[in-house]
Amino acid sequence: MALHTAQYALVLCVLVCSLSTAMALKCWDCRSDSDPKCADPFDNSTVPITDCRTLGNLEHLPGVRPTMCRKIRQKVNGEWRYFRSCAYMGEPGIQGDERFCLMRTGTYNIFMEYCTCNSKDGCNSAGSLKGNIVLGIVVTCLWSFVHLVRL
Ligand SMILES: *[C@@H]1O[C@H](CO)[C@@H](O)[C@H](O)[C@H]1NC(C)=O
Repeated sequence: MALHTAQYALVLCVLVCSLSTAMALKCWDCRSDSDPKCADPFDNSTVPITDCRTLGNLEHLPGVRPTMCRKIRQKVNGEWRYFRSCAYMGEPGIQGDERFCLMRTGTYNIFMEYCTCNSKDGCNSAGSLKGNIVLGIVVTCLWSFVHLVRL
């Protein structure tokens, strides 16, 4: 009986976990040089949101699908530029924490901040990206699984 419950729980967890990661992700898609509302503070009123599933593959990355959103903040010659879109490469956040972004300082007075996320639709809106729903689900699943097995 206990094993049955545990098995159901495991199947349910695997389902929920794989669904939540395979689910379609939508990302804001804009660049501040053509729409100033793309900058921070972000104003989504005129910015389109793109279903990353509808995007094609990249020529130089065959078979790689966009599974994340990204936000790039660039300072070039003292001027900020923002780019938001679906992302093909990298991992969400820094070591899984979406509050953190990759920072790069280049030559010629260029500063770049690169944020990626996949926790929810439109997660590339905020100044700092927050929350990781997938991690939350995995932890909840593991917790309930362990709990059920003990019963
Ligand atoms: C756009 O921004 C408003 C205000 O912050 C928010 O309530 C709304 O949910 C956003 N729209 C989408 C599609 O996320």
